Amino acid sequence: MRDILEELEERRAQARLGGGAARIEAQHKKGKLTARERIELLMDEGSFEEFDMFKTHRCTDFGMEESKPYGDGVVTGWGTVNGRMVYVFSQDFTVFGGSLSETHAEKICKIMDMAVQNGAPVIGINDSGGARIQEGVSSLGGYADVFQRNIMASGVVPQISLIMGPCAGGAVYSPAMTDFIFMVKDSSYMFVTGPDVVKTVTNEVVTAEELGGASTHTKKSSVADGAYENDVEALIETRRLIDFLPLSNREKAPVRPFFDDVDRIEESLDTLIPANPNAPYDMKELITKIADEGDFFEIQKEFAGNIITGFVRLEGQTVGVVANQPMVLAGCLDIDSSRKAARFVRFCDAFSIPILTLVDVPGFLPGTGQEYGGVIKHGAKLLFAYGEATVPKVTVITRKAYGGAYDVMASKHLRGDFNYAWPTAEIAVMGAKGAVEILYRSELGDPEKIASRTKDYEDRFANPFVAAEKGFIDEVIQPRSTRRRVARAFAALRSKKLSNPWKKHDNIPL
Ligand code: HXC
Repeated sequence: MRDILEELEERRAQARLGGGAARIEAQHKKGKLTARERIELLMDEGSFEEFDMFKTHRCTDFGMEESKPYGDGVVTGWGTVNGRMVYVFSQDFTVFGGSLSETHAEKICKIMDMAVQNGAPVIGINDSGGARIQEGVSSLGGYADVFQRNIMASGVVPQISLIMGPCAGGAVYSPAMTDFIFMVKDSSYMFVTGPDVVKTVTNEVVTAEELGGASTHTKKSSVADGAYENDVEALIETRRLIDFLPLSNREKAPVRPFFDDVDRIEESLDTLIPANPNAPYDMKELITKIADEGDFFEIQKEFAGNIITGFVRLEGQTVGVVANQPMVLAGCLDIDSSRKAARFVRFCDAFSIPILTLVDVPGFLPGTGQEYGGVIKHGAKLLFAYGEATVPKVTVITRKAYGGAYDVMASKHLRGDFNYAWPTAEIAVMGAKGAVEILYRSELGDPEKIASRTKDYEDRFANPFVAAEKGFIDEVIQPRSTRRRVARAFAALRSKKLSNPWKKHDNIPL
């Protein structure tokens, strides 16, 4: 009997060694943790339970029958993050370069199926040389089986991808379909075709880092939502994000204890808006002053800085924040910011996370670059996302809300529940100067007349009261009491019920 028990321990020890001590050392030398070390850091201590530890591949080509390491290059299972269940797969680069075989894919599919059935997030840790070359089409089939599950799980359970090594070729499309992608600086990359193929086809010379490193994907392509210095930071931040999220679309986000007075008055907000209406200010100051304990988890911090997206808590409850940032492009909406915010709004709506929208938007960014790039369709994404969202929506206009951008930014007309404005709000079709130049074109030669016309237009529209008279703004509030007003509004909306007409699915402008 004892022998049998010992044999189990021996087998387990062998499985835990993955590709062996030398390859583990090589992994460490690259500044990377192993698949198991990553899981240990991600999960609560001792909470991880493994599936399929002894699974091996079935390949008999190219001498593969000689080498059948336990686990087949991926560690899968479940555990808890701050006491809440998550499923995880972590590719083991020390075993065949973490490459994906038919059986490796089966292991991932098994935990994805369980996650959807049992209602818990899937965290995928990617560190892989791609399709197991020795297996050919079996491996491609395995990828497609994972892809199909990513699609079915979308909007059902949160899916988070951590890229902690290579992720290339068609393999990138699994993370691409998950809700959030986080990368590690200098040790991870993602691309559809690598530097060698790029050189052959287009004659461009780029490094893997330039082509698909963390900086590229967080700043240029927006494929990734965040970049971290090392594996440890990425895993700790992932735990922080999970704390904001519901386990599935069947549940609400967790309510965390909070130690911040909901009635907290912030006198400094009364002077946040500069005297000069064209001077910028930092919208993040308002976000952190509204949030419980100033805690803000930002998504896509490095991309399209003219809009800010991320999670805060109010009275312990998760709220998604979308805010124009006057410090970047004067807070204009453009292609990138519309896409970024639309995806975020849709994530929040899919997982019943209420949305707070902070508005200071002078309009859509003009230019051929924008028009040729399809700003019409991209802007429509954000409009569509807000309009279809049925979660509680609270909006605060701090300063400018001009033109179509006023409508788009969670206005009353898009089923905004509480639409507040600060006394400094300016709500109009366009800025006074532009309006006067169109309305009084014949008087343009007379600067005095134009100045007086401009002042008249400003007096009429550079305030929130015209919109308030019409009920488009529910109330004009004091900046200092924004936290209390917004928190009370969300509290009043806790049992909001709103649904859209039945449809197979919508046709959001992609
Ligand atoms: C089988 C692989 C492998 C793979 C790496 N290995 N990739 N085994 N299939 N795809 C093995 C290596 O043989 C080696 O084994 C070990 O993993 C470590 O690899 P190294 O090359 O020594 O590591 P490194 O120098 O760090 O380079 C990593 C790498 C490189 C850049 C990922 O291994 C590489 O280019 N691999 C092939 C990538 C690729 O072309 N994949 C197919 C892409 S197409 P030993 O025994 O020596 O330790 C694709 C399609 C997906 O993925 C389609 C989905 C629809």
